[in-house]
Amino acid sequence: MNKFFLDLGVQPLANNFLKKYSAKQPKYNLKLYFNTKSKMVSISKRIPSSVMFNSKYPYRSSMSSTMRTSFKELSSEIKKKFNPKLLLEIGSNDGALLNNFDKDKAIGVEPCKNLAKITKAKRYYTYDDYWDFKLSSEIKKKFKEVDLIYSANTLTHISNLNEVFKSLKLILSDEGCLIIEDPSLLECIKKNSYDQFYNEHIYVFSAIALTNLLKKFNLEIFDIKNLPTHGGSLRYFIKKRSNKKYNVKFSVKKQIDKEIKNGLDKFITYKDFATKSTKSKKLFLEILKKIKKDNKKIIGYGATAKAVTVLNYCNIDHDLIKNFTDTTPEKINTFLPGKNIKILGYKKDILKKYDYAFLGAWNFKKEIFAKEKNFLKKGGRFITHLPLPKII
Ligand code: TYD
Repeated sequence: MNKFFLDLGVQPLANNFLKKYSAKQPKYNLKLYFNTKSKMVSISKRIPSSVMFNSKYPYRSSMSSTMRTSFKELSSEIKKKFNPKLLLEIGSNDGALLNNFDKDKAIGVEPCKNLAKITKAKRYYTYDDYWDFKLSSEIKKKFKEVDLIYSANTLTHISNLNEVFKSLKLILSDEGCLIIEDPSLLECIKKNSYDQFYNEHIYVFSAIALTNLLKKFNLEIFDIKNLPTHGGSLRYFIKKRSNKKYNVKFSVKKQIDKEIKNGLDKFITYKDFATKSTKSKKLFLEILKKIKKDNKKIIGYGATAKAVTVLNYCNIDHDLIKNFTDTTPEKINTFLPGKNIKILGYKKDILKKYDYAFLGAWNFKKEIFAKEKNFLKKGGRFITHLPLPKII
């Protein structure tokens, strides 16, 4: 049974960056639910994939050095451990991972045509389509089977998880490995990052819920790695139960035990999370209003989907946060979804004109602090809303 625990209000589509601000942009109600049987956490409203992921999708995996390095390291690890004859990436974005593999050994699936175009131009075989059973059957026909499937921050964006895993199982070879990577629900709960939820993040996985889901398909997790990406993610290594090539490692039990210890299997944990999120909203507004009263200016740093959830949940507009800045070409000179706040292109010293910078891309805090030493040296301060809002 799905039990409601948090209402994050009326929200715009998190990646709908408009060239001209319009109050009439599409909106939906963002409510969070916990399934008491499957232990899965999800949002209620499902926006069709074609509305969210199309040729205007602005998110680029290669936009930060943190992500580029992370993909490079993973590629070496995959080659060393699995040496796949064929790798398939679902949600290959602009090729941040594929770029590290030979063109005849890696194929991509990327429904956003603007992004698929990038890897196609580099001659990586790329399907610009949504991941479903039809596409999986098409791949099976052409490539027979795949011995390594990788998907980061994609499967949790697809509403029908049963079809997702049925399609994966169809093409995964008997001794193959499926690696998926998504934000960790445990980290999200610990950091109180309610901003991990938005229309694209239909689910935030825990190892507990994923294990329950995989059972239906005779699949199992055999290893788990904690990653710093996206504010704390888990990389799950999955295989067919019948596959004896890999042993189930202790890391799986360790993660599940940690999740149980932190109450991820209990509804009360999510009620607490909701209470903390309401408190966080109140505190954040108090801080911003005080800064405004002191006639100081704030810029948002990193126009992330997460920041869209925060600003729309807390009802913050340009009177409190004057502008945002972001390095993504597709986001520059557009307006933060749902808000009349213009996103300025990033320039060195852009922060000079502001007294505070709100860390929209809090998951890149280290990279950003290193880059903005001057701002900090000259008395500039960052504001974060996690785990509770404060000036840092
Ligand atoms: P990310 O946190 O991955 O986004 P989302 O919440 O949308 O999944 O994206 C980080 C955003 O921050 C991206 O739009 C690029 C931007 N950014 C900067 O503008 N400057 C920086 O130095 C860094 C690291 C990121």
